[in-house]
Amino acid sequence: MALAIAGTAQSGDYPDPAKLPLKADLPDPLVMFNGKKVITKEQWLKSRRPELKKLFEHYMYGHAPKAPKVIAKIERIDKNALGGKATLKEITLSFGRGDGVKIHVLLVIPNKRKGPAPVFVGMNFCGNQSVLADPKIRLNPNWMYGNRKGVKGNRVTDASRGTDVDVWNVEDIIDRGYAIATFYSGDIDPDRPDQRGIQKNFGTEYDWATIRAWAWGYSRVIDYLVTDADIDASKIIAVGHSRLGKTTLLAAAFDERIAIAIPHQAGCGGTGPNRAAFGNKGAESVKRINTSFPHWFNANFKKFNDDVERLPFDQHCLIALCAPRPVLLSNAVEDKWANPDGQFNMVVAADPVYKLLGSKGVASKKMPAVGRLMNSPLGYWIRDGKHSMNREDWRVFLDFADKHLKRK
Ligand code: GCU
Repeated sequence: MALAIAGTAQSGDYPDPAKLPLKADLPDPLVMFNGKKVITKEQWLKSRRPELKKLFEHYMYGHAPKAPKVIAKIERIDKNALGGKATLKEITLSFGRGDGVKIHVLLVIPNKRKGPAPVFVGMNFCGNQSVLADPKIRLNPNWMYGNRKGVKGNRVTDASRGTDVDVWNVEDIIDRGYAIATFYSGDIDPDRPDQRGIQKNFGTEYDWATIRAWAWGYSRVIDYLVTDADIDASKIIAVGHSRLGKTTLLAAAFDERIAIAIPHQAGCGGTGPNRAAFGNKGAESVKRINTSFPHWFNANFKKFNDDVERLPFDQHCLIALCAPRPVLLSNAVEDKWANPDGQFNMVVAADPVYKLLGSKGVASKKMPAVGRLMNSPLGYWIRDGKHSMNREDWRVFLDFADKHLKRK
C-alpha cells in the first residue's frame, strides 16, 4: 500500500515484516537499523531520528502528504467569553483546493495575560459545541459517534452543547493563563473502517491511516496557531485522550513545533508497548487493536499481529522522537486496557535518548505513587479511577506545563 512519495520511505526500502529478525527485547533506540551504534547527538539528529520516523511510517502509521497551504477564515470573535475572562474565536481552516475539506477550530484565549498566551491544542470527540455551553458555537456539521450525548442519527443537536465541559475544563485552563485550541477528529477522519476522511482529497499515493491523518490535522491547526498574534508559538502543548492520545504522541514526534506532548491514557498503538511482555495483564494487544480498528494503522502493521517481536521499534522510540521536549504520559489505575505499567516502561526506555540530548529524562526508574506527578521532562502520572479525562488530570497537565515552560 505504501507507494513512492518524494522525501519519505518508499515501499521496498525496508524488508517485509516476515523477514525482519525476532527481537524479544525492546529495540535499542540508539542502534541504527543496520546495527550501527548511535553515540553522538549529531548521529541521532542526522541519522537515527529520520530513520525511526521512516520506520514508523513504513510499518505502522503510514505516510502523509506535506503541508498544503492553509487558509484561515475567522468566523467569529467574542471578546467577552466566560463572563469577560476570555476571548473566543471560531476559525475555519481550508486548503485552497476547492475540495470542501474544512477544520473548524475553537480558540479560547485568556484576557488577563502579559503578551501572547501559551496554548493547549487538543482534538475533541464530539465537536467544539460540546466543549463549552455557549449557544453561539457552531454545531459540528460532520458525521458523529452515535453513542455521544445529544447526537441523533450520527449528527449533533443543540442537546450536545456543553456535554464535555468537565472533560475540557476550559475555565480552569483560562484561569491558569493558558489558551486552548480544540477541533473535532471527524473533521479530518470520521473514524470508520468503511470510510476515509480528508485522505480522499490528497491522492491515492499516501497510505496514511486514521491516526496519521489525525496527527496531520494537529499540524494544520498549528500552522494557523503560529500565525495568531495572541498565541506564543514557542509554547504549544498538544493533548489528547485515548485514541486521540495516540495521535498526540505521533503528532509531537513528527512536528517539532509542539513544545510539550501530553498523551492521556493512550495505550496500545501510542504510548503502550507492542511487545506484551513489557506491559501489564489485561492490556490491549496489537492483534486486538488491528482487528477492532483496522483503519487506525497501515496494512504493514497488521502483519505484526502474531509477530510483534519482529517490530524494529517499540513505542519508547516514538517517545524518543520527541526528545528533548517534555512528554507526560498520563494514566488511571483502573484503566489497565491502556497499559499503565507498560507505559512507564516505555518512558524509562526512552530515557537514554533524552540523556544523549542533554535532558534530565526520567526522575526515577520506579513508577511514582498513585496521585504523585513525576514531573521530570519524561513525566508520568497515574491517578485513581477510570478511563476518562477530568479536572484532576487538567490540574496535573497545567502543573506540568508550568514547570517545563518555566511559568512558576
Ligand atoms: C478502545 C480502543 C483503545 C482506545 C479507546 C478510546 O478502547 O481499544 O485503543 O484508546 O477505544 O479511544 O477510547
